Amino acid sequence: MKPIQVGLLGIGTVGRGTFEVLRRNQEEIRRRAGRGIEITMVADLDVARAASIVGDGVAVVADARAVIANPDIDIVVELIGGYGIAKTLVLEAIAAGKHVVTANKALLAVHGTEIFAAASAQGVMVAFEAAVAGGIPIIKALREGLTANRIQWIAGIINGTTNFILSEMRDKGLDFDLVLKEAQRLGYAETDPTFDIEGVDAAHKATLMSAIAFGIPVQFDKAYVEGITQLGAQDIKYAEQLGYRIKLLGITKRAAGGVELRVHPTLIPAKRLIANVEGAMNAVVVHGDAVGPTLYYGKGAGAEPTASAVIADLVDVTRLHTADPHQRVPHLAFQPDAMSDLPV
Ligand code: HSE
Repeated sequence: MKPIQVGLLGIGTVGRGTFEVLRRNQEEIRRRAGRGIEITMVADLDVARAASIVGDGVAVVADARAVIANPDIDIVVELIGGYGIAKTLVLEAIAAGKHVVTANKALLAVHGTEIFAAASAQGVMVAFEAAVAGGIPIIKALREGLTANRIQWIAGIINGTTNFILSEMRDKGLDFDLVLKEAQRLGYAETDPTFDIEGVDAAHKATLMSAIAFGIPVQFDKAYVEGITQLGAQDIKYAEQLGYRIKLLGITKRAAGGVELRVHPTLIPAKRLIANVEGAMNAVVVHGDAVGPTLYYGKGAGAEPTASAVIADLVDVTRLHTADPHQRVPHLAFQPDAMSDLPV
């Protein structure tokens, strides 16, 4: 069977990682997907740079719409980020009957209901494992591994930049601004790092987990969001003296009459596992009524960890598309009509 054809919108850090991991592990990935997966077209404004990454045999264009208009492309991977042009392109790709894989948590947390409804109407999939906690397969865990459970709560360190900043400030007594610059240099931070330090990025991710866990619409606007900019070295030191660590947690839980959704710095007893998650690592605790607490730990950002999640989605979509190109896939695309309307 001919390989499934993938078009990449944006080849920055994650796009490059996706291209390289797909090439390096192509045999294993082909066996697992049941057919080959090939990136055959890339759109990026910096055509020369993109061409130098992908080499011969992959069409490189500046215009993302050329990818969407290409009838041979089965899956569009959106790695542009943000709510602007990315939203327009994702909706156009869906309208053109393409499946979409995206790492764009901001887009889905704010416009997810509209995007999932469009995908549902077109019978295509929108997969977004890479949007939450990078390489940790938390979306799959919530949708599949824990599907028997009534989820009670989720609490996670889901922003690597802020965890890196808090860890470095505590361990090395370094200044906030200096550590932020280092996080940016290492490629952890968002293009606009205020999304990291103000808790917005963590809230985007918590919003998506909340929607999946509790079957509610994505409602980022209802989240309580507080970042780490008000924390000083003294706070971290006093917490330490009292036997606590300060972590920026994304929390969502069932509560009387609704669902709580919040992001804020939290004091955690130093002996707890999650208090010892250091640097840019992520960790998510999910508590289900049958399974009890489960803990997921790994790299939440970076080229290959995020590529690992993008490719997992590509494999899922390839398998399902190959089984029946027109089937609707409840575990990959939200079914808004099946959502309850628990208030957040
Ligand atoms: N800026 C994000 C972080 C990148 O620091 O976790 C991954 O979403």
